[in-house]
Amino acid sequence: MHNGYNYLIFCLLLHHQTKKEVMSHSKHVIAPSVLAADFANLHKDIQMVNESEADWFHIDIMDGVFVPNISFGSPVMQAISRHAGKPLDVHLMIVDPDRYLQTCKDCGAEIITVHYEACTHLHRTLAAIKELGCKAGVALNPHTPTHLLKDIIHDIDLVCLMSVNPGFGGQKFIQHTYHKIAELRAMAAGINDALMIEIDGGVTLENAGRLLKTGADVLVAGSFVFNSATPLDTIKALKGIDPSRQEI
Ligand code: DX5
Ligand code: ZN
Repeated sequence: MHNGYNYLIFCLLLHHQTKKEVMSHSKHVIAPSVLAADFANLHKDIQMVNESEADWFHIDIMDGVFVPNISFGSPVMQAISRHAGKPLDVHLMIVDPDRYLQTCKDCGAEIITVHYEACTHLHRTLAAIKELGCKAGVALNPHTPTHLLKDIIHDIDLVCLMSVNPGFGGQKFIQHTYHKIAELRAMAAGINDALMIEIDGGVTLENAGRLLKTGADVLVAGSFVFNSATPLDTIKALKGIDPSRQEI
């Protein structure tokens, strides 16, 4: 009887963890970018990600001002959230992101990432994200140096290094990203060892191993996953990489 009760508690805890445990992971995280999904068939693609070995949904919100493209807004994010069985990792490519933090939370975001270049008061913005109970991320454009995060690195849960210029999927990976991963890891060492480094843009099986070996934890992949013939296998292959066996 007692054992049965303990087992029930264990199952409940496990279930609770499934969607909620965002940051504690033993392995790297794969976050397919919904931007590359079939928008006329979103439910099918969401189900595919639910059934895959992917960990998060990466949601790109673009306003046509911060970036030269418009993606989708809160009604679509809400619809995705209703069907997504994994955490929503929301990447805000918008000016004045503070205006939309509550909306993101209401739409089911568990991680909210704002751009360094879009925040005059980054410290305040990160505090507001945490106040909502979300993990706080900061994205850096390819031209933005990592050292600008030095005085706030201890307050960040995730740094998203843009490995393409934000705004579009399907672009070519920028090689300099490797240096930025190493710089960030060195900067966070001993101060914020739990910091997650996410790579966003042009991720493929060709660069994923080296990115992980250099210190990345989260790989966002849009077109490489959704344009592949067998997305489930592509996700499995990205998830299955063993960084310790990579040569740099
Ligand atoms: C680019 C977006 C990315 C994009 C990645 O502005 O932030 O998340 O969807 O797409 P791929 O993987 O196709 O480069
Ligand atoms: Zn993104």
